[in-house]
Amino acid sequence: MGVNPVRVQVPPPALPKRFNSLLTSLLLKLWFEPYKIKVVEPIFFTTKKERKKILQKAGYNLFRIPSHKITIDLLTDSGTNAMSEHQWAKILEADESYAGAESFERFLESVKEFTGMPYILPVHQGRGAERIIAEYFSKKTKNFIIPSNTHFDTTKANLQYKGAKTLDLIIPEALNPEIYHPFKGNMNTDNLKKLLKKNHKKIPAVFMVLTNNSMAGQPVSLENVKRTKEICDEFNIPLWLDISRIAENAYFIKKREKKKKSVKKIIREILSYADACYMSTKKDGIVNIGGFIALRDKNLYEELSMLLILWEGFPTYGGLSGRDLEAVAQGLKEVVDERYLEYRINQVKFLGEEIEKRGIPVYKPFGGHAVYVLAEKAFPHIRRQYFPGHVFTIALYLEGGIRTVEIGSLMHGEDAHFEFVRYAIPRRVYTESHLKYVAEISGEVTKNKKMWKGVKIVKESPYLRHFTAEFRLL
Ligand code: F0G
Repeated sequence: MGVNPVRVQVPPPALPKRFNSLLTSLLLKLWFEPYKIKVVEPIFFTTKKERKKILQKAGYNLFRIPSHKITIDLLTDSGTNAMSEHQWAKILEADESYAGAESFERFLESVKEFTGMPYILPVHQGRGAERIIAEYFSKKTKNFIIPSNTHFDTTKANLQYKGAKTLDLIIPEALNPEIYHPFKGNMNTDNLKKLLKKNHKKIPAVFMVLTNNSMAGQPVSLENVKRTKEICDEFNIPLWLDISRIAENAYFIKKREKKKKSVKKIIREILSYADACYMSTKKDGIVNIGGFIALRDKNLYEELSMLLILWEGFPTYGGLSGRDLEAVAQGLKEVVDERYLEYRINQVKFLGEEIEKRGIPVYKPFGGHAVYVLAEKAFPHIRRQYFPGHVFTIALYLEGGIRTVEIGSLMHGEDAHFEFVRYAIPRRVYTESHLKYVAEISGEVTKNKKMWKGVKIVKESPYLRHFTAEFRLL
C-alpha cells in the first residue's frame, strides 16, 4: 500500500555486561555449540552386516557409499556446512537474473569487504578457480613451476594437468607430529629463497594455503606470509593465497600471536601481503557451493574474465545461482564471529583429545577443521604400499558407519609426508555427543587392528585416483 517493505536484519541481543563476563569465563572451561537447532536432518543407522556388504559393493572406496548409509559423515568440511536462518532468509530474496543481478551486487560488496581486493570473479567452487589460474599460468610461462607451503590435491592436479611442476616447501617442524609449533603450516622461506634464486624465470607465482589442509590443517603465521611476500618481491613474482579456511587461520593468529585486533582485521592484514587470492567458499564461506578469485590488477581481471565466461559463466554469476551468491555474501559475515570460531576450534580440539585418550596417535597441535590420525602408527603392521590410512577409514566405517578420508599416499602418491586419516568436521552440523561416538568407535578400531592386513588397488584413474579407485582387501 505504497509502503516499501523494509528488510531488517535483527542482530542478536547484546548480553548484559556481568552475564557476558560470566559466560566468557565459563566458555574458557566449557564450550558449547553457539546455536540452537531449528531444522533437523535424520541420521541413518545400519548394521555391521549391512556395512560389510555396502563396503564390498563400493569397492572399498568410501566416496562410493551413498550418504544414507553413513551414520556420521566426516569425509569433508567442504560444502557440508549448516546454513543460518539469515542465510536462508537471504536465499528467498535472491535475484536470478543472468546479468547484473542484485544478488551479485551483495556478493561483490561482501567479498570486497572480506578481502579488501577490488576485482572479484565468482566461480562455482575452488576447482573452478584453480582451472582458470592453471590455464593462465600455463600460457604465460613454459615448463612452469609452482611452489607452495603444501598444494592441496585438486590444486596440484589442475596445475600438473597444464604441465606444471608443483613443489611443497614445508618447514622441518611440520614433519614431527609430536612437537609443539604454533604454525606448522608455514612456508619454508629459506627453501623458497633458494628455489627462486635458481629458477625464478620458470615461476610465474608462489602459492600459499591457509590453513594448510594437506599438512594436517595447520595454520600459517602472519609473519610467514609477510616474509614470503618479501622474497616474492625480490624476484618480482606475485603471491597467490588459497584462503578457503582463512577465518580459522586468522583465529589461530589472534590466539597464538596474541593479537588484539579482530579476526576480520587480521584477515585483511594477511591479504594485504597478497597480490591475488582465491577461495572455495564451501569451507569458511559456510555454504554448500561457491567460490571466487579476488585480484588487485585490472588487466589480470579482464584476462581471467574471458576464461571465466568460457568455463564458468558470465562474470556476474560465475556458475552460481543468485541464491548461492546470497548465501556466500551472508556466510562471509558470519564466519568472522569470534564466538563461533572459538567453538569451532574447540570442537576440533575436543574430538582430537577424545581420540588421543583412547591411545590413538594423532598429529599435534590440532588444526582448524579436522583431526588427523597417524595411520602408520595406529596400524604399524600395514606397510605404506598397502595404504594403512585407507584401511583405517574402511575399518571406521565397518565398526560404526563413520566416513573419513585418507590424506596420504593414496591421495598424494610419493609427495605424501604422512599417512593421515582426516576426520573433517562440517561447520555447525554435529554436537559434542556425536563426536564422543566417533572417538568411541575409533577406540574399537584400534583394539581390533590385527584383523586388517591392507588393501590393493584394482582400478584407478591417472588424476585424483582416490575419488574413484576400487580396492581389494588383503
Ligand atoms: N583448496 C583447498 C585448501 C581445499 O581444501 C580445497 C578442497 C580446494 C582448494 C578445492 O575446492 O572443493 O571447492 O573445488 N577441499 C575439500 C576437502 C575437497 O575435502 O578438503 P573445491
